[in-house]
Amino acid sequence: MEKYVIKGGKTLSGEVVISGAKNAVAAILPCTILSDEPCIIENIPNISDVTITLQIMSEMGAKIRMLNKTTVEIDTRPLQNIPVPYEKAKLMRASSYFLGTLLGRFHSAHVSMPGGCNLGDRPIDQHLKCFSALGAEYEINGGMVNLHADKLIGSQIFFDKNTVGATINGIMAAVKADGLTIIENAAKEPHVVDLANCLNSMGADILGAGTDVIKIRGVKYLHGTTYSVIPDQIEAGTFMAVAAAARSNILIRNVIPKHLEPITQKLVKIGVQVEQFDDAVRVIGGPEYVGTSVKTNPHPGFPTDMQPQMAAVLTCAKGASMVTESIFDNRFRYVDELRRMGANISVEGRVAVIEGVERLKGAPVKATDLRAGAALIVAALGAEGVTEIYDIFHVERGYENMEVKLRNLGADIQKVDEPDPTAEEKALKKAL
Ligand code: EPU
Repeated sequence: MEKYVIKGGKTLSGEVVISGAKNAVAAILPCTILSDEPCIIENIPNISDVTITLQIMSEMGAKIRMLNKTTVEIDTRPLQNIPVPYEKAKLMRASSYFLGTLLGRFHSAHVSMPGGCNLGDRPIDQHLKCFSALGAEYEINGGMVNLHADKLIGSQIFFDKNTVGATINGIMAAVKADGLTIIENAAKEPHVVDLANCLNSMGADILGAGTDVIKIRGVKYLHGTTYSVIPDQIEAGTFMAVAAAARSNILIRNVIPKHLEPITQKLVKIGVQVEQFDDAVRVIGGPEYVGTSVKTNPHPGFPTDMQPQMAAVLTCAKGASMVTESIFDNRFRYVDELRRMGANISVEGRVAVIEGVERLKGAPVKATDLRAGAALIVAALGAEGVTEIYDIFHVERGYENMEVKLRNLGADIQKVDEPDPTAEEKALKKAL
């Protein structure tokens, strides 16, 4: 069991280079299953979600070759349509993308219900609505989602909710369907656009990604591509929050500043300085911040995946802040952990009210999910004393070499391997 041990209060400086986007690569790797030729995908992050995705594809028969640390060649021609089992699917939400891509290629798919961070109810009704509209039948049996279509036929789909996952699955299922599919109330997140750009570079005909209405005209054949994944908006945002919390001056490179706009605006509002360059931002933490209100919204609103990290910064802003989560039912599980560090936060439903304190104090805490873990890192770097963060496997699902990148900026952070207490307990019981 590994944990981070962070001694807070150090001023950080220097540069950090942002890796490829987790939520884009999560769709782009499976989308190569639709390609009739080998593909090369560049700028892939070294995170466990990528390892698992490639493992699933390899076990299904895809030929996968790492050309260098961030580039993979994938030949999915030999891939067989075997079920994606629970042991793999439970590890990440993006396992649901195997539904859309396998349905698109084989007209059938068998994938265990997806896992991922526990953020409250995460149904897949909109995914299923979309597959049905394209002509597929579905049943859920023993935790497996089984899809079958004699033929996929383009259709008009209106999502009842703005959903990234169902939009991506809809695109993948429709890309080789007969005729025109129109997705309305589509998600506009940068990773939806990146997936569409990648598929278009293979010869797909997708228009409107990044707007509410996406039009997909089915094609028969997709050729190979060499495609580079966009930089991770949320990793960049997390380092912006790090600079703010640690009152430091950091240059964050390999970013798309436009994608960071909602985060930049909130940070500037509380008193952080942000300078934008073509593909970098410099963030300069201020001596003091003022509280503000933050409400998460679909892109281009403030991203839910930055809500916990922003809340961590606001714990030490003067006055009261209000953080409203409008995407997920339960994305405040990190609050108890921040309270252990001295934060003054009360939660009522989907609203957290933060009364700023002078400074947080290090404590043993637990990452309850990926971004919760990121928020604890942000808090720990600004806190007085030592913070131990447990369950860091959540963080490693989505952040490449987090502790190395932070150490390079001057942070006092170590990854320590600690014996699993349950294993110790078991050994003790055995000995008795
Ligand atoms: N929803 C439904 N029915 C559906 C699908 C979604 O009701 O069929 C609801 C969800 O319960 C939620 C809302 O719609 O309340 C939005 O869910 P969405 O489908 O957009 O989320 P997702 O596809 O499950 C992706 C990211 C999340 C990110 C959200 C929102 C991936 C692999 N995951 O999840 O990323 O928070 O979009 O932007 O792309 C993270 O990176 O930490 C993370 C959780």
